[in-house]
Amino acid sequence: MDRIRIVGGNALNGIIPISGAKNAALPLMIASLLTSDTLTLENVPHLADVEGLIRILGNHGVDIAVNGRREHQDGSYSRTIHFTCRTVADTTAPYELVSKMRASFWVIGPLLAREGQARVSLPGGCAIGTRPVDLFIEGLAALGAEMEIDGGYINAKAPKGGLIGARYTFPKVSVGATHVMLMAASLARGTTVIGNAAREPEVVDLANCLIAMGAKISGAGTSTITIEGVPSLSGARHRVLPDRIETGTYAMAVAMTGGDVTLSGTDITLLDTAIEAIRRAGAEVSAVEGGIRVIGHGDQIRPVDIVTEPFPGFPTDLQAQFMGLMTRANGVSHVTETIFENRFMHVQELARLGAKITLSGQTARIEGVSRLRGAPVMATDLRASVSLVIAGLAAEGETMVSRVYHLDRGFERLEEKLTRCGAIVERISD
Ligand code: UD1
Repeated sequence: MDRIRIVGGNALNGIIPISGAKNAALPLMIASLLTSDTLTLENVPHLADVEGLIRILGNHGVDIAVNGRREHQDGSYSRTIHFTCRTVADTTAPYELVSKMRASFWVIGPLLAREGQARVSLPGGCAIGTRPVDLFIEGLAALGAEMEIDGGYINAKAPKGGLIGARYTFPKVSVGATHVMLMAASLARGTTVIGNAAREPEVVDLANCLIAMGAKISGAGTSTITIEGVPSLSGARHRVLPDRIETGTYAMAVAMTGGDVTLSGTDITLLDTAIEAIRRAGAEVSAVEGGIRVIGHGDQIRPVDIVTEPFPGFPTDLQAQFMGLMTRANGVSHVTETIFENRFMHVQELARLGAKITLSGQTARIEGVSRLRGAPVMATDLRASVSLVIAGLAAEGETMVSRVYHLDRGFERLEEKLTRCGAIVERISD
């Protein structure tokens, strides 16, 4: 199993190209199940989750052609991938595949809309909370689907003639359930109005792609989305939006180590709340042509309290990284997690580096320390693991992060991007 070795203490200086967003690429890839034409996606990141979903889609009958991967002028490695699902080969998504990646459960929407039926394994438990699927079941049932749980699977069946548009308001905001409703309602008969929809930029990206495929959608990016169903969708070409979580992660790394880095190929407006928090912590962040410039001052970090919330609030996917930054603040800060109930597993690992954090319910109290010291630590989930990398970059001495397969799910060429900016980071393959 690979490990990452970091020798901390160096400031970051240079350019970091930001990849396409994992959380947009996954639903966009799944949307290819909605049409027999080719959906071409540009700027697809090279990540373990994307490769996993390619295998899953292949199982459902999607032909996939990947254009050669080469380094672009700006140092990025985005790929263009063509997805063609002439006919759906299999409407079952088996446990072995769905249990590895929760987002693969989302195939239930397009399979049900296009084929009138789907048998999809329940995703099972997850390290960061129970993550149920009740909102998916309720939403699809509102479109007329019969939903039944049997042997760990959801058997879903559309009425004769297909799903029927309806008005449905989510009792709680869910990114995944909003994606699924968008896809399912695009091919339903009549109009669907989704209330309390997720407003994340990735939802807007999926809606824009579906519109390019012929769907009639308005209101994406607000909490009410209206979808007028159409009988069929066509192919399209769409560019995956930049990864706001990767953007925020590197911005926090620079805020912590100090230095001057341009994050290229990204857009400051995708993460206003996080940028505001990073600025309040003392880093200078500005929009520059084609990206964002971050100037960090390392040891003059100010304490800032944050609370995670659905977009446009502070993203839960940046919570661990921000806590990493706060471990070296000049004072006490509080980080409150409201989206997932068990997303503090990085706390114990950060403590191994010398951080002083106490937990009380869903709030962490972080007493900043003047220095962290490198130590062996373990990655526990995707975003938690990168917070350990950030902390390791600012710690004295060597930090060895094990179980880095978590990182490979969501961060493209992490060690290369950091090394190019002066960090000492290497992957050790045992
Ligand atoms: C997506 C993101 C993930 C991010 C999360 C919240 C992808 C691939 N993943 O995950 O990185 O952390 O949004 O921004 O895009 N819930 C229910 N019932 C349901 C569905 C969800 O109670 O049927 C709950 C979840 O347990 C959680 C909350 O709703 O507490 C939000 O989850 P959701 O927005 O659905 O997260 P994901 O779409 O899984």
